[in-house]
Amino acid sequence: MSVLSAEKTLQDWNLRPSSFQGFIGQEQEIKNLKIFITAAKKRQDPLDHVLLHGPPGLGKTTLAHLIAIELESTFKATSAPILTKTGDLAALLTGLSPRDVLFIDEIHRLPVTIEEMLYAAMEDRKIDIMLGQGPHAKSMQLPLPPFTLIGATTRCGMLSGPLRDRFGILLPLSYYHSQELALILLRACEKLALDIEQEALLEIATRSRGTPRIALRLLKRVRDFADVSHSFPITKNLAQYTLGEMGISQEGLDPLDQRYLHVLQNVLNRGPAGIDTLSSLLNETKETLEDVVEPYLLQQGFIQKTPRGRIVVRDFQLQNNKTL
Ligand SMILES: Nc1ncnc2c1ncn2[C@@H]1O[C@H](COP(=O)(O)OP(=O)(O)OP(=O)(O)O)[C@@H](O)[C@H]1O
Ligand SMILES: [Mg+2]
Repeated sequence: MSVLSAEKTLQDWNLRPSSFQGFIGQEQEIKNLKIFITAAKKRQDPLDHVLLHGPPGLGKTTLAHLIAIELESTFKATSAPILTKTGDLAALLTGLSPRDVLFIDEIHRLPVTIEEMLYAAMEDRKIDIMLGQGPHAKSMQLPLPPFTLIGATTRCGMLSGPLRDRFGILLPLSYYHSQELALILLRACEKLALDIEQEALLEIATRSRGTPRIALRLLKRVRDFADVSHSFPITKNLAQYTLGEMGISQEGLDPLDQRYLHVLQNVLNRGPAGIDTLSSLLNETKETLEDVVEPYLLQQGFIQKTPRGRIVVRDFQLQNNKTL
């Protein structure tokens, strides 16, 4: 592998896989998904609606693109927070062609009126729109072409029951194993012709919170350190040094994870503590704590959620006071 240097631009970091082959991990889910896609194509039906859910950075948007590629369909994307009026959704839906894929990111944030319009669109492929205003207003039904809706959310629990029930394919994404992350990093390094030792890749992978986006981000930072100190190939030592400087613990906890655990364990006497208390002590939003920090700490067995609040179940030793 040749040495990569500064002439590589930011665009090089658009490392999204362009086919299912480039998508690593989540094997059982992908295996099933491929069968559903093949069956839909064989019957010339649109794929059933898909709900992708899981913590940030695990590949929901990437997978949505790949599904559309595999279906050979046009991909149209939007995000719930920008759909404010039913007219916004109606315009999108009526502009669809048969077998298009419509992707709605952060689907748990749809306003109720829009969500209700989506029910009929998903189930009966029609929408009701109001023409005119006041006493002369008339309701009109518009048929929709057969299409596939792909919703993505970090908060499956916040979706209303009726909306969740209208997705025929529920696809939960889980944290990746280190070996899978190392492979994702290796593919990225190959694309970038970045000279790095296998052990360094594994070091980054084990300290990336099971998350491809974080692994790729840390790789960028390690590359920065390597570029500045002209240290190629990148070694495990350099990776360890960079990650240490960034406040990432040996277990792979980032500074916010460590602050959370420190506060719960040492300030709140191991809990139980409510999310509001943690949020104000850490000066972070409840959403960040609930969507980003806690799922990983739960999965790693550091904390548990009880009816009375969060408690520490695995001792945590702060390695670096710089983190606080
Ligand atoms: N399984 C995978 N194989 C290879 N690369 C992956 C994989 N999953 C994610 N990535 C890469 O990780 C990055 C983040 O993925 P993506 O944006 O799809 O996550 P997301 O789940 O949509 O996150 P968010 O919840 O923040 O929207 C992308 O650059 C993507 O290329
Ligand atoms: Mg996304």
